[in-house]
Amino acid sequence: MIGFRMPTRVHIEPGAFERLPEAARRLGLQSALLVVDPGIRDHTNWLTSACENLESTGFRVRVFDAVEPNPRTSTVTAASEALKADQLDGVIALGGGSVIDAAKAAAMLATNSQRIEQYEGKDRYTERPKPFIAIPTTCGTGSEVTWVSVLTHEPTRSKISVKGETMFPDQALVDADLLKSLPPNMVAWTGVDALTHAVECITCLAANAVSDAIAIQAVRLLFQYLPRAVADIESDTEAREAVMRASTLAGLAFGNADVAAVHCLSEALGGLYDVPHGLANAILLAPVMRYHRQAALDRLAWIDKHLHCTSALEPMDSADGPSDGERADRFLSDLEDLCKRLEIPGFDSLKVPTEEHETIAAAAVRNGSNRSNPQPMSPTSYREILSSLDGGG
Ligand SMILES: [Fe+2]
Repeated sequence: MIGFRMPTRVHIEPGAFERLPEAARRLGLQSALLVVDPGIRDHTNWLTSACENLESTGFRVRVFDAVEPNPRTSTVTAASEALKADQLDGVIALGGGSVIDAAKAAAMLATNSQRIEQYEGKDRYTERPKPFIAIPTTCGTGSEVTWVSVLTHEPTRSKISVKGETMFPDQALVDADLLKSLPPNMVAWTGVDALTHAVECITCLAANAVSDAIAIQAVRLLFQYLPRAVADIESDTEAREAVMRASTLAGLAFGNADVAAVHCLSEALGGLYDVPHGLANAILLAPVMRYHRQAALDRLAWIDKHLHCTSALEPMDSADGPSDGERADRFLSDLEDLCKRLEIPGFDSLKVPTEEHETIAAAAVRNGSNRSNPQPMSPTSYREILSSLDGGG
């Protein structure tokens, strides 16, 4: 049983990014490490704009712009060294999930003296992390409202999760305008990552009444608006704001429940082959849910009820209505149709060698979220999913 908590102060509105100096002031910061990736540095004006905005108030900013996709433990160490060397008060992350996860871990590592891998797990550190502000620039991560940082440990090519009650960002500025220049494939991949958070949250064993309520709203928003957002994120304001909101809602939900097999596999693929997280989830979500059909039948049917219910004043169930099995099947085919419309590539595009299925399955089983699956998942279970994907593309 997980008690719902949300210590992050979340501002969701277009233009929220402009409120960065105010957010920093509220935390009492005079200086910060501003963490971005090379894409944000080279292809947007947000870094310059954030620096100017902050520095105009006398704030001291140091930029750390070396975060890669699937951020590495060595990157986190370098960022925390920069924080300590310049005696900065806090950390600001401006980017997708990789940037936010790396910055979140750096904020913790700056006040705790061991190597980052020593803190793998939950609440393994002792000192409170540096104050931390997260500004997402994709519609997938949810990391702006969660306590976890997922990192690639290069020596073992595996993912480690570092989390703690005080690792939630202190402030999250969720600004849909930052999605305007996101390429369509990134909108699709990160949007399906958000959908994965919501669907895994609802179907996993850690689901609870609060996470259900939030996650189902994210599912509804993403089914309704993600195709429109992918088609024209720049001018479709309604769709852009809806998918950004859905991403944060999905983060709130799974942060208070869990994810499961899709993430166990995608994190294994990220650690071993550097596959982008959103892409891996987007490819795996529908097939893994189909694998869980029997075990999660009532939960999949529950999602279908909410997707097809047109009025809160009408009963969702009636004697002559669809059975749970029919509902689950309809949701699974709706999900597959959505992924097709979004042009999510097939598993074969990842070019994962068949002989490595065993290694991937073993890594998936070791993932902390494996125990939350709606059915026990052994290495054989994961190998079955992988071989069905190898055959079916
Ligand atoms: Fe994810």
